[in-house]
Amino acid sequence: MGRFITIVILFVAVALLVNKFVLQGAPEQPVDPQKKTEQAESTLAEAPSTTTPSSDGSASDEPASAGESTESEPVAKPKPEPKTKAQAEPSQPEAVLLGSGDLLTGIPGEGGLTLEQIDSWLANPTNHVTLQPVLPLSLAAGAAEIKGIDENPLTRAKIELGRQLYFDTRLSSDNTISCASCHDPDFGFAKNTPFGIGVDGQQGGRNSPIAYNRILSGPQFWDGRAESLEAQAVGPIANPIEMANTHEACVETLKGINGYAKQFEAVFDDGVSIGGVTIDNVGMALASFERAIVTGPAPWDYYQKVATFEKSYADDLAFIEEEKAKDEPELDDEDLELWREYTNLKMPLTAHPISDSAIRGGQLFFSDRAGCTACHLGANFTDEMYHNLGVGMDAEEPDDKTDWGRFVVTNDDKDRGAFKTPTIRNVSYTGPFMHDGSQQTLEEVVEWYAKGGHPNPHLSEKVKKLDLTDQDKKDLVEFMAEGLKSEFPKIEQERLPQ
Ligand code: HEC
Ligand code: HEC
Repeated sequence: MGRFITIVILFVAVALLVNKFVLQGAPEQPVDPQKKTEQAESTLAEAPSTTTPSSDGSASDEPASAGESTESEPVAKPKPEPKTKAQAEPSQPEAVLLGSGDLLTGIPGEGGLTLEQIDSWLANPTNHVTLQPVLPLSLAAGAAEIKGIDENPLTRAKIELGRQLYFDTRLSSDNTISCASCHDPDFGFAKNTPFGIGVDGQQGGRNSPIAYNRILSGPQFWDGRAESLEAQAVGPIANPIEMANTHEACVETLKGINGYAKQFEAVFDDGVSIGGVTIDNVGMALASFERAIVTGPAPWDYYQKVATFEKSYADDLAFIEEEKAKDEPELDDEDLELWREYTNLKMPLTAHPISDSAIRGGQLFFSDRAGCTACHLGANFTDEMYHNLGVGMDAEEPDDKTDWGRFVVTNDDKDRGAFKTPTIRNVSYTGPFMHDGSQQTLEEVVEWYAKGGHPNPHLSEKVKKLDLTDQDKKDLVEFMAEGLKSEFPKIEQERLPQ
């Protein structure tokens, strides 16, 4: 029972902290998101292991009555009293659970956005309060890895502006292409074509990656050539085969749309950046929107939580079960409390069941035998590093069409043919796969790994021929396709300034 008491003390401590920072408002210093999650970080550092999402580290991220935890708020939201911007200084961060709620559902209403609606949205101080993102169980273990929000603080108004820009084809030269044309929410924020298709049907040579869970990701693109989401976001606008616009023309267009001009003025009047429509502010708004797109807990996450708990309290749970079977069980309050916690923990797993095959696949994924977690590790299943699996390296003689990936950025020979490890959360929505979209199905991907990738002088030494049975392969696919599939946040795709 000693362990249980420790956990209770921990839980009370976390509850007190939450109470202090969130319910009563933050202290002078904004809460350091890194502090809260030191425990989670240490779990992450231990990866690869089967305990990625720690059961204790996320205690503050999940409501105790996690019946439908993806839909509930982490803690009672402070209702900020209406106050003017000046009074709100320094604005107190508001904790917001990403991945659910109304952060991405747009300014309330129907149809095109009117100036009136935009004015009243901007006049509400709540929309300008700095948000302190809380990650759902899916990503909670990575909370210490959150990127970019110190330089580019999140606010509701900025996220909403980014949402509008993301879906607006007016950012492109001929008004036909938006970010969503290639990163489509209906295709897991990727696209079901091998290559992105831009203005005039032009195609590049790379597959459109996903645009979610970016909050844990630093450098962007398959080769990491953009140092941040902000830097990445303005790239496609001026890319001749994507949105084929110029930054100047894009800024002029946005300035000419009153609803945008007003929002840019209000959103970036924050002492951090220069207000108004600038291409940098376009990048900051888009990046903020992308950071807020977080995919929710998957069956594997819920399963992990239960499995970790069962392992930690194996003896206690066995004892309670034994007692419960008796006519007159002798259980004290602690036992009953532990049992209640256990039952609560199992509820979301019951609602999001996981198959035995997916569980076996997950165990295999994390095992040395498959070795996937040599690269796909941590909360978002990626080391954010670059590796050569031999994809696209099968030409007899490399020619000027060969895509050398990371090498083009670093000029370092060891980076030839290396590409950034993608997340495999919700990967089943995002086919075709790999940087060149050359693999159609997850079965094909698993075969690729089983045969040890494609031999080439720069093949990663972490890629080896695997000894997998047909059932193993099925299990791996099942793990990725079902075990890691989860809900996407609700997103308004229309509602743009007129
Ligand atoms: C014509 C298709 C197309 C359009 C339009 C487009 N993208 Fe992309 N996007 C791609 C492709 C292809 C890549 C990968 C390119 C590479 O790695 O060189 C990419 C990469 C990205 C990445 C990097 C993801 C990662 O894992 O590194 C992000 C984020 C992104 N795009 C966001 C956006 C945003 C925001 C917009 C709108 C301003 C946009 N994209 C417009 C096709 C497109
Ligand atoms: C050496 C590091 C490494 C290892 C080990 C590894 N991966 Fe990957 N994985 C990558 C990289 C890098 C890519 C992208 C490669 C490319 O496009 O050239 C990738 C791509 C994928 C994709 C396609 C995702 C997409 O969106 O296109 C899947 C699925 C995948 N890996 C699953 C696995 C599985 C399952 C295992 C274990 C059997 C595994 N990986 C082992 C690094 C690795």
